[in-house]
Amino acid sequence: MSRKPEDRTLDPSRLIPTVAVSRRSMLQAIGVSGTAAVLGGGLASAAVAATAPQPHVQTEPGAQSLRLKINGTAMTLQVDPRTTLLDALRERVQLTGTKKGCDHGQCGACTVHVNGRRVNSCLSFALMHEGDEVTTIEGLGAPGRLHPVQAAFVEHDAYQCGYCTSGQIMSAVALAKEPCGASDADVKEAMSGNICRCGAYSNILAAIQQTRKA
Ligand code: FES
Ligand code: FES
Repeated sequence: MSRKPEDRTLDPSRLIPTVAVSRRSMLQAIGVSGTAAVLGGGLASAAVAATAPQPHVQTEPGAQSLRLKINGTAMTLQVDPRTTLLDALRERVQLTGTKKGCDHGQCGACTVHVNGRRVNSCLSFALMHEGDEVTTIEGLGAPGRLHPVQAAFVEHDAYQCGYCTSGQIMSAVALAKEPCGASDADVKEAMSGNICRCGAYSNILAAIQQTRKA
């Protein structure tokens, strides 16, 4: 039986407290939540899946209402008109699996799906997406039921630090629905908007080609 999406309007009681973060705790958080969100396993995505994303209350003057469906859940946010889709996802909905690298369209770390197509979420304002369906890495798979592309990345060890990996996976998933040729060169060209500073390209390519040939 299909479930009617829940409309999550802002609730002041859900304000998130500000906490002091040490370098050690921050690194621990990156190490755990970054990899977990990317691969659909571990604490971050598990927590997201368990509690569903909670919009962060926006109290700034001039904030405007925005309705989105994020990972299948309808929600209403109040956002400053200057807020990018990337910042709305990370800072208002706490979906931090989507990464901010360059913040100006050059690295692909922020790749998400909007209405089924991949976009650099740092390049568009959140308010441009009224009524859109957004999928982030947290909506792709979960512990025990990884998306085939996530599973292939694990199998081929297609990451090192993992910072680019959620963007790589979101692009690779979208690529399956795009008119891309079968050769390695075709895939490299189609994935050229996703930069990996660790240079895990050969393993990334192997993972993608495995899922395309499956
Ligand atoms: S953070 Fe968006 S392309 Fe680099
Ligand atoms: S795995 Fe480190 S940037 Fe790609």
